[in-house]
Amino acid sequence: MEFSLERYLQDKLMQVAQTLPIFGSDFDPEIRPADERFGDFQANGVLSYLGRKKENPREGASLLMEAFKKEEALFDVEMAGPGFLNFKLKDAGALNWLKAFHTETSYQGHYRSIFSDKTVVIDYSSPNTAKRMHVGHLRSMVIGEALQRFIRFGGGNVIRDNHVGDWGTQFGILLMQVKEKRYNFDENPEQAIETLEGLYQEGSAKTKEDPVALEEARRELVKLQQGDEENLRIWQKINEISYKSFDNIYKRMGVTFDYVLGESFYRDKVDEIYKALTKLNLAVEDQGALVVFHPEHTRFCKQPFIIRKSDGASNYATTDLATVLYRSENFKADAMVYVTDCRQRDHFEQLFLTVKKWFELEHRTVPELYHVYFGTVLDANGKAIKTREGKPIQLQTLLDEARERAYQLICEKSPDLPEEEKQHVAEVVGLGSIKYADLSQERTGNYRFEWDKMINFDGNTAPYLLYAVARIYAIFRKMGLEVDTAGELPSDLEGFTTATERVLAHKLLMFPMALSLSLKELKPHWLCRYLFELAGCFSGFYNADKVNVEDENVKQLRLLLCKATLSTLESGLHLLGLETLKRM
Ligand code: ARG
Repeated sequence: MEFSLERYLQDKLMQVAQTLPIFGSDFDPEIRPADERFGDFQANGVLSYLGRKKENPREGASLLMEAFKKEEALFDVEMAGPGFLNFKLKDAGALNWLKAFHTETSYQGHYRSIFSDKTVVIDYSSPNTAKRMHVGHLRSMVIGEALQRFIRFGGGNVIRDNHVGDWGTQFGILLMQVKEKRYNFDENPEQAIETLEGLYQEGSAKTKEDPVALEEARRELVKLQQGDEENLRIWQKINEISYKSFDNIYKRMGVTFDYVLGESFYRDKVDEIYKALTKLNLAVEDQGALVVFHPEHTRFCKQPFIIRKSDGASNYATTDLATVLYRSENFKADAMVYVTDCRQRDHFEQLFLTVKKWFELEHRTVPELYHVYFGTVLDANGKAIKTREGKPIQLQTLLDEARERAYQLICEKSPDLPEEEKQHVAEVVGLGSIKYADLSQERTGNYRFEWDKMINFDGNTAPYLLYAVARIYAIFRKMGLEVDTAGELPSDLEGFTTATERVLAHKLLMFPMALSLSLKELKPHWLCRYLFELAGCFSGFYNADKVNVEDENVKQLRLLLCKATLSTLESGLHLLGLETLKRM
């Protein structure tokens, strides 16, 4: 039995079709999840294929159907309309599938995806140094973390790279300020990052008013870029302080990286880029700058991709070009995934077009390049989210508030939990709520950050799903059973005994398809939607069918359904980067 029945059917139908003369090797059955009224899956490709080959679609589809029936007994198949094929898994098939895949370990490594066996670099979080992380840094971290887990689960060899902005123009101002104020970094280490933010704001205001200060900041930046020792030392110190403040957040959010190379890592790799792109005639001089145009593109034919500024300095684009080359040569990356907000769409589109032409001209393998972009976080009124003073909300503050609010919720729901456990549950539920609220939205849109909606047991929320998990653990606990050992399906069991059991079983086996959709579009909300629906089916089942019944066979079947639901919910939530709880 295969974990993904979509894939199983796809392969099976192709195989069967090859025994029939009217289907060539170019035939793709296009198996997709079906409208639940008609079955589990449908083959969309039969009709269009036969149409293209000028064959009678109903006749061709019916030949295929008959051949399939001879080969395959697990599915019922029917023809509908002008030549659609609908497949519904029979009870015996559904039971077999459940027997094979009701624990996390049973499908580990069994799931193949478009990323299987590929080396995939994922570039996410990537904040700029010298500031604390604020609410604007949330989405890249949360979405990136979920996607890297999906890709790894889907067989990809994942490399997580935090492309920190540690070489930007902010350092000119900071160096000027640190020197002028003779700022001592060791004075008050706890406050260091805040002090740096203050210094930066002051300095930035000064450079706007005073051209002398502006010149001074510029000089400091040039000195840094030319390798001045003192400036490099201060720069290093500022970055250390920044990393420390980032790490607190990463730890709490359960995020880790394989590499934190940062923009500065590429500072001596940019000359190569200028040379290569100029030699290939991709880059041209334009008003003193070095730029790339894309004549075939409606906007980028005129809107330049600037890779060296007119003052001779490299920029974000140069660094990203050097980064692609590095990842391609050193990591042998087959694919690169970038998670940033949607304001960077032009940048990545220009980057990808440039890389494609450059690599093709140099006969390098062009990696698959994906820009995973997301919208802005808005407040409940649809405005950009800010503090009352109009400042961005600090991430640390936001996470604390989430824990606080979750704590209130838990105290109402489970007043009897021991205090220490309440605290732990509050942290898991609070942070889980923030993550899930973000992930359950279609990422490309803006999204409204609403505490009351996300920290709530009703609706498509983390508390709802985490509670569903805890409730299933409670079922086993109350019956005095271990989750691991319960639910041994008797071999003579032939089918389900109620409609609600069957509906739940058919929902369970759709898990790999929800994952495939999420992976294909790099959109976690598909998995969220699936988990929410699954929890709904479970409720339907649990309200209708008692688990602890006399009949041993029925009891074992229902325990198996509980177990499979539990493992699917937990796997899904873990893939989204949430922790789960046995009790709450
Ligand atoms: N540091 C950038 C920012 O804060 C994001 C970097 C994304 N990654 C990249 N390779 N460009 O917007």
